[in-house]
This record gives sequence, structure tokens and C-alpha cells, in this order.
Amino acid sequence: MKIQENALTAAIYTKLRNTGPFMPYLEDDIDISLKNSLYSIVIYDDLNNAIGIARIIGDNRITFIIKDVVVLPEYQKQGIGELLIKYLFAYISKHACENAYIGLMSTIHKEGFYEKYGFIRRPNEKYGSGMVMFYKKENFK
Ligand SMILES: CC(C)(COP(=O)(O)OP(=O)(O)OC[C@H]1O[C@@H](n2cnc3c(N)ncnc32)[C@H](O)[C@@H]1OP(=O)(O)O)[C@@H](O)C(=O)NCCC(=O)NCCS
Repeated sequence: MKIQENALTAAIYTKLRNTGPFMPYLEDDIDISLKNSLYSIVIYDDLNNAIGIARIIGDNRITFIIKDVVVLPEYQKQGIGELLIKYLFAYISKHACENAYIGLMSTIHKEGFYEKYGFIRRPNEKYGSGMVMFYKKENFK
């Protein structure tokens, strides 16, 4: 197994995301997005195939958003997801101030995975819902 930091490419990003419930994006858009990320991690198997990815976007001090945590289906349930989180947390620990916000939007039924590492579900008695929208040009006139 090999681990590479800050070497996520559009090709690897697309290949792994296509195995999960994710929106497709154009290569040029992915290139810009990856360039503007704070951190990324790619895990490879012994044949040098990428089997797990994750990245962080944010302001590098107060706000960190975890994105695109994906393990290839045939490699799931073998500790790769946990390894990805370990590397993301190591990066955040080096850069975050006290009480920094670490956010993510879980895919459906993966909330339990993130709870293992300390994330809490919203909404609850204290916090409102996490919210999202998908940009469509015609809605922004
Ligand atoms: C979510 C995902 C990254 C987990 O990766 P994984 O390699 O299977 O996870 P691991 O094997 O490292 O599991 C770590 C721990 O989380 C637990 N876990 C994994 N998936 C879980 C789930 N859906 N619900 C609850 N617990 C879960 C495991 O049982 C394990 O616990 P243990 O250490 O007590 O045995 C993987 O299922 C995946 O890529 N899914 C498709 C893409 C996706 O939806 N990603 C999330 C984007 S927000």
C-alpha cells in the first residue's frame, strides 16, 4: 500500500467518485477545484491502483470542510476509510485553531462512519440542519 499527500488528480477523482452517489464534473472544473483545495490524500494498492481518496477545503485556520471521502467498493470495510480520516485529522491538527469548525455532508447511511470519529448529526437540540444547494445558472439571474 502507498499513500500520497496532495497528489490527487482529476482522473483519480473521477474514477473513484464514479463508484459512489456523486455528481459528475468536467475535468477542467475538477482541476481548478483540486488546485484550490487545502489538502488531499490518495491511497494506492500494491499494484499502484488508487483505492481511496479524500480532501479538505477551507480557510486553513477556522474552517475545514472534508470532501470526497471515497474507498473503492472492493476495498471497503478493510480500514482504508479510517486511514483516510487519520491523515485528514493529522493535517487539521497542524493548522486548526481551538474550536475550529470541521464540517462535512455525509452521503446517505454513512453517518455512522463519521460518528466513529466524533462528528455529530444535525439537526439536533442545539444545531439547525446542514443545508446545501446545487448551482444552476438559470437560478442565479
Ligand atoms: C464511507 C466509506 C469511506 C468508509 O470506508 P471503509 O474503508 O469501508 O471504512 P473502514 O473499513 O475504515 O471502517 C472504519 C470503521 O467505520 C465503520 N463503518 C464503515 N462504514 C460504516 C457505516 N456506513 N456506518 C457505520 N459504521 C461504518 C466500520 O465498521 C469500522 O468500524 P470498526 O473500526 O469498529 O470496525 C466507504 O464506505 C465509501 O467510500 N463509501 C462510498 C462513498 C461514500 O459514500 N463516501 C462518503 C462521502 S460523505
